[in-house]
Amino acid sequence: MNSEQPIRKIAISTGGGDAPGLNAVIKAVTISALNRGWEVVGIRDGYNGILFPDQYPDRGFIPLNRERVRGITHRGGTILGTTNRNNPLRFPLSKPDGTVEFIDRTDEIIAAFHAQGVDALVSVGGDGSLEIAHALHKKGCRVVGVPKTIDNDLEKTVITFGFDTAVAFATECLDRLHTTAASHGRIMVVEVMGRYAGWIALNCGIAGSADVILIPEIPFDIEVVVQKIQQRDAQGRNFSIVVVSEAAHPIGGKIIAQAQFGRQERLGGIGEILAAELEQRTGKETRLVVLGHLLRGGSPTAFDRLTALRFGAAAVRALAEGIFGIMVALDPPNVRYVPLEKVTKRTKTVPLDSDVIRTARDLGICLGDRLGS
Ligand code: F6P
Repeated sequence: MNSEQPIRKIAISTGGGDAPGLNAVIKAVTISALNRGWEVVGIRDGYNGILFPDQYPDRGFIPLNRERVRGITHRGGTILGTTNRNNPLRFPLSKPDGTVEFIDRTDEIIAAFHAQGVDALVSVGGDGSLEIAHALHKKGCRVVGVPKTIDNDLEKTVITFGFDTAVAFATECLDRLHTTAASHGRIMVVEVMGRYAGWIALNCGIAGSADVILIPEIPFDIEVVVQKIQQRDAQGRNFSIVVVSEAAHPIGGKIIAQAQFGRQERLGGIGEILAAELEQRTGKETRLVVLGHLLRGGSPTAFDRLTALRFGAAAVRALAEGIFGIMVALDPPNVRYVPLEKVTKRTKTVPLDSDVIRTARDLGICLGDRLGS
């Protein structure tokens, strides 16, 4: 990858958990690049196509042309595949003595780009993928990042694509759960993804008229949640909807997580504990629904499609303008460029003084720390 020569061929990689809108980015990058006379290749399964070429009949690279990206804007998932394992910056290598060493394999990615004649990379992903993109940039690669995640936890962009679709689906689920909860006079606990940020829970909870929303940013007091449910009962509303984010935790308690070898910890399980606790303390029948990976599936909303298409086209414009080592970001009304170093190794959590938190409180929704009316 010679940073002096004009761009003739670019690669695109999708990494981390999938999010609705990835295919729209792939389409926008491909068409925008082809329209500039560039060639485009997709890397299979994050960087696995390069790290394990023997496992792929196409040696891990897919040539992308108009035919290949036709009719994919509205499709969930990614036609390139993705993974949240085998981080090339900390690749787990098993040694003969049974121990494991973590090694940096990014030089192999750069060597593969040289071998393929790839001049620049568009890396679409969350914090992990953008950290890899930043490392490749520091090694001389022409790289542009595109922010993706249903969690909306990336810094310096107002929103990531995938988030709107996840919130829309979760809200529809809350609408459906309302009627059954009301019919049976039950408590419905709904656990949603979001990692260490409560964006999904807060947004779907408000839009879906939840009575209680528990997010990691506000540790909860179980007594307050019980009182909220009892208050509703006393007011003649004999059912309650409780939305809980996967990393929500009680005051002084821990996030429920399982360690995973060489990977980010797996969150989830708080819903089950909470539902049992609420049933026992209130005496009300309580049911749990874990939305989990359903939030990552389905067709992207119009907003996510448009954001993804805008991000993809902007990423190619940045490359054409000779601007590298940046991430494209939504800063309404425009898409702008922010340096990757200002984005990586951070988490955008919900600010406690944000308008959305205040809206929830003004509507009388209990956030687990005080009752709400
Ligand atoms: O980052 C997206 C996300 O869906 C998180 O909300 C969740 O904690 C995690 O990925 C789940 O990852 P996996 O697909 O490995 O279960």
